[in-house]
Amino acid sequence: MRVGVIGGGLMGSGIAEVCARSGVDVTVVEVDEERCSKSQAAIGKSLDRGVRGGHVSEEDRSAALERLAFTTSLDDVEGADAAIEAIIEDEDLKRDLFKRLDTLLPDAQFLASNTSSVPIMKLAADTSKPDRVLGMHFFNPVPVLPLVEIVRSIMTSEQTIDRAHQFAEATLGKTTIDSQDRAGFVVNALLIPYILSAVRMYESGFAAKEDIDRGMVKGCAHPMGPLALADLIGLDTLLAVSQSLYEEFRDPSSVAPALLNRMVEAGLLGRKAGRGFYDYSS
Ligand code: CAA
Ligand code: NAD
Repeated sequence: MRVGVIGGGLMGSGIAEVCARSGVDVTVVEVDEERCSKSQAAIGKSLDRGVRGGHVSEEDRSAALERLAFTTSLDDVEGADAAIEAIIEDEDLKRDLFKRLDTLLPDAQFLASNTSSVPIMKLAADTSKPDRVLGMHFFNPVPVLPLVEIVRSIMTSEQTIDRAHQFAEATLGKTTIDSQDRAGFVVNALLIPYILSAVRMYESGFAAKEDIDRGMVKGCAHPMGPLALADLIGLDTLLAVSQSLYEEFRDPSSVAPALLNRMVEAGLLGRKAGRGFYDYSS
């Protein structure tokens, strides 16, 4: 099987790695050579970590690296069996990309989006076969977290859903849950208002950021606190998800706090930028 992964950032690199580790040939598409190299390096680093932790054998690491190709031309995904889109959380860019994938991959089993929140129907609307478009929502870090949300639009066919389940579970070894096509799907509809509440709590001086995070780690056994998690997700992604949620539900819990807007404007995007609520530069 060959899969095109469009976007080789945090999530696309993780998805590409997990596919390659599972025996799938992968073509990663990025915007320029520098981003291609960054994705390749991130996957190499993560596989090395997997080898060190005893999760990946040396042999499997080498085989996975051989299954990966990087390109700046979307045309190179032509003929792939499926595509998984993981570009930035921008609805217009994603809609345009799905139109192009629809033409390039007339026989693909499915065209999936890893969007955190954009309703799948919006991405399927301009394609010729909306029945084969669905959401496959992976979680960060993809090599570590087992879940994939399978999101069905009102036009997605049963066959597409079956194929996506088969791919996520049998091929990639992931656990799936099903969601209807509502902004944020199941997990982010619950998680994002919680993280935004933590940002508001910190912004208002209610508590120090370290105390908010320590409170949720030590008091509720979360693996990390909400502000550290915001940094892991990326504040630009968090902002975009909050906007999609608000657009759909008009619930005040999804309104982005002013501090989040200011941090994104300042380029303080979290771990990937070296600084967010915390400093990762050293
Ligand atoms: N690649 C490969 N392996 C990795 C990895 C990566 N990027 N990150 C961690 N690991 C592995 C490590 O090898 C380690 O395995 P061993 O202990 O067996 O060696 C294991 O995962 C734990 O890693 P660490 O010991 O370095 O760190 P940790 O125990 O503090 O865990 C964490 C780090 C996995 C990020 C953990 O803190 C965690 O799960 N945090 C919560 C993450 C979360 O909630 N993600 C969901 C975000 S929301 C989302 O994704 C949806 C959206 O649309 C926004
Ligand atoms: P990111 O900023 O790390 O990576 C996005 C990548 O897309 C960048 O490298 C960018 O160069 C590339 N890109 C932009 N336009 C492109 C195009 N036209 N063609 C090819 N590549 C293009 O973002 P991310 O965190 O990887 O998020 C990607 C998607 O996954 C978003 O839809 C996001 O909502 C979703 N998601 C994110 C997380 C998370 O925790 N960060 C979790 C689940 C889902």
